[in-house]
Amino acid sequence: MEDLKKLETEIIATIAAMDNLTGLEKLRVWEVGKKGRVSLLMRELGKMTPEEKKQFGPKLNGLKNKIIQAITDQQAALELQELNHRLQSERVDITLPSPSGNQGSIHPITQVMDEVAEIFTELGFSVAEGPEIEEDFYNFTALNIPPEHPARQMHDTFYFPEDSDGNRKLLRTHTSPVQIRTMMSGPPPYRIIVPGRTYRCDSDATHTPMFHQVEALVIDKDIHMGHLKWCIEEFCAKFFEIDDVKIRFRPSYFPFTEPSAEVDIGCAFKDGEILIGEGDDWLEIMGCGMVNPRVLENVNLNPDEYQGFAFGMGLDRIAMLKWGIPDLRDFFTADLRWLKHYGFASLDIPSLSTQRHNWEER
Ligand code: PHE
Repeated sequence: MEDLKKLETEIIATIAAMDNLTGLEKLRVWEVGKKGRVSLLMRELGKMTPEEKKQFGPKLNGLKNKIIQAITDQQAALELQELNHRLQSERVDITLPSPSGNQGSIHPITQVMDEVAEIFTELGFSVAEGPEIEEDFYNFTALNIPPEHPARQMHDTFYFPEDSDGNRKLLRTHTSPVQIRTMMSGPPPYRIIVPGRTYRCDSDATHTPMFHQVEALVIDKDIHMGHLKWCIEEFCAKFFEIDDVKIRFRPSYFPFTEPSAEVDIGCAFKDGEILIGEGDDWLEIMGCGMVNPRVLENVNLNPDEYQGFAFGMGLDRIAMLKWGIPDLRDFFTADLRWLKHYGFASLDIPSLSTQRHNWEER
């Protein structure tokens, strides 16, 4: 009995002093394993009298349990120690030093989109959006371009493979499908602009397969072409920051507008540069017209009650004009040197706000 107490103290002390898990496991086998010290003592019980068994049995069991408990505790302590050690030594610094100076810039197209949106929201328009992967119905049919219409060929459309119902989706060739989506989404009046990406299978200095347009649609009672003309003149004057900007409407044709026109802006070509608001040259910037009554009927509006106008403008084109950027393809080559040259500071706000701000300060 004395011996057992001594043994216990000794073993518990050894366990507490053990500083690694492998050693601790060895100790466990040595003390309480099948052939361990305590198990051997237990075997001795067989040779004892029933009286002795009664006395030593529980004591030996108690000893065994205490040892097992001590080993489990020590194991948990050592594991925790090891984890803390690993957390310290494997620490990864996930912070980055902040870049010195201004990094990154606003792409000229983004800047143009912001400016255009700002001009039109001031005129009471709201901004609408639609999907770039579009259905034939919205991109063509509902816009009065039925399947065999020659205008479909002019659009150089990127089509997706046919689905099981024989329908082919496409990459929208213009932002006009959002006219249809808007008119089908609720009752008039509508006064929206739609900036976004559009796609046509075409590539040269003035065409890229992906380009940007901004669409405008106004539908209400008593809307006429005078409203269209005023809106476009107002926009051009603000966007190009020239009060008496020269604008010309040329008769044209779009299946979804009647009458239709193309809008040219007065400019001059001097030493390979384009100057807006000067000279006798003209550059086309958009297509427009009064919404064709057939389109209104396609979305269940009564053309005798509602009329409106629409226009669609190439955003890349007007960005080229405003900043004298000669090649459209450079917009999308992601050349950092180009962006540094033409890009806008990351906190730059549309030039209109800046102008008004300066004006108010004066
Ligand atoms: N969707 C036409 C195009 O991409 C532009 C346009 C829009 C013309 C709205 C008239 C009215 O060429």
